[in-house]
Amino acid sequence: MDSIVVKGGTPLNGKIQIAGAKNAALALMPATLLSEEPLTLTNAPRLSDIKTMTQLLQSLGVEVTSMQNGKVQVLSSHDMTSTTADYEIVRKMRASNLVLGPLLARHHQAVVSLPGGCAIGARPMDLHVSGLEAMGAQIELKDGYLHAVAKGGLKGARVPLRFASVGATENILMAATLAKGTTVIENAAREPEIVDLARCLRSMGAQIDGEGTSTITIDGVDRLGAATHPVVTDRIELGTYMLAPVFAGGEVECLGGRLDLIEAFVEKLDAAGVDVSETPDGLLVKRRNDRARAVDVTTEVFPGFPTDLQAQMMAMLCTADGTSILEEKIFENRFMHAPELIRMGANIEVQGGTATVNGVERLKGARVMATDLRASASLVLAGLAAEGETVVSRVYHLDRGYEHIEEKLSAVGAQIERVSE
Ligand code: UD1
Repeated sequence: MDSIVVKGGTPLNGKIQIAGAKNAALALMPATLLSEEPLTLTNAPRLSDIKTMTQLLQSLGVEVTSMQNGKVQVLSSHDMTSTTADYEIVRKMRASNLVLGPLLARHHQAVVSLPGGCAIGARPMDLHVSGLEAMGAQIELKDGYLHAVAKGGLKGARVPLRFASVGATENILMAATLAKGTTVIENAAREPEIVDLARCLRSMGAQIDGEGTSTITIDGVDRLGAATHPVVTDRIELGTYMLAPVFAGGEVECLGGRLDLIEAFVEKLDAAGVDVSETPDGLLVKRRNDRARAVDVTTEVFPGFPTDLQAQMMAMLCTADGTSILEEKIFENRFMHAPELIRMGANIEVQGGTATVNGVERLKGARVMATDLRASASLVLAGLAAEGETVVSRVYHLDRGYEHIEEKLSAVGAQIERVSE
């Protein structure tokens, strides 16, 4: 199994190209199931989660052609062979559940295993299920699989969400494009990935209004057609690399970065003493002083501070001047990076959904491992600032969401390499 070895203390200077968003691509790819005609995605990220979604779609009979070394994906659902998403693939990645809405919408049936994914909390699917039921689907849980049918097709409905779930909004949005009549999603998620999905669906011929707000209205159409769509920039990869020069010093320009994707995060960086400025090609980041200042952070749904940047921010605050309070409001079990950071010399106390971080002068390199994707990224970042060598194992978590993290960081001067053990 591979590990990432980081030697801390070298300032970073240069440019890092930010990829297309993993979480956008994982919703855009199943959108192909809504149409017989091809969907072409450009600016696709090259990640193991994308390979998993490719395998899942292929198991349903979707033809997936990868071009330009994976940056362009052409998907065709012309000759579908199955409407069953098998446990063996779904268990690897929770986003596999995003085939449910499109399969029901076009084929009026779907059998989808309940997902696995990151070990960061319960992550149920009740909102997906109740939303699709409101649209006329009958859904039963048998042997770990959701068995869904919509005799005569889905019907438009009012779908109020108890919580603005990203996945539930995506599933219902896709399903509603081919339903009879009008669907209104209330308390819809507003994440940029939802906006990106709505734009792609509109290019395919869907009638959608209000994406990016809490109310999305969809007028169902009879069929969707072909489209070509560029995947939006990955705001979580962006935020992760924006933190790199805060750990290591120096000045890094994140190419493709946009402030509107990441405003709440940039506000916290500013309060911590980090300068972020817009350039013609992206965002330029450098810290104002040798040491960042403590800030309090609460994770929220968009446009609030993203839960997917909480681990990386916590790692940064470990060496900030003062005490920071981090509150995790989206997932109930998302501080698994804290014990690993403590092994590197951090002073963190976790109580329920709140972590108190007392900044120390320096972290020290150690052997660490993480049990989820963003936690792994936080340990690599911590290694950039730590004294000595940090070895991060279980790199397969990182490969789910970061394209060659070691290449991108070493290109700006980090001492980092991947080793096979
Ligand atoms: C997506 C992102 C993930 C991110 C998360 C929150 C993808 C592929 N993944 O995950 O990286 O961390 O949004 O920004 O886009 N919930 C329910 N019932 C449901 C669905 C969700 O109670 O039916 C709860 C979950 O347990 C969780 C919260 O809602 O506490 C947020 O989940 P959700 O927004 O659905 O996240 P995902 O779509 O799984």
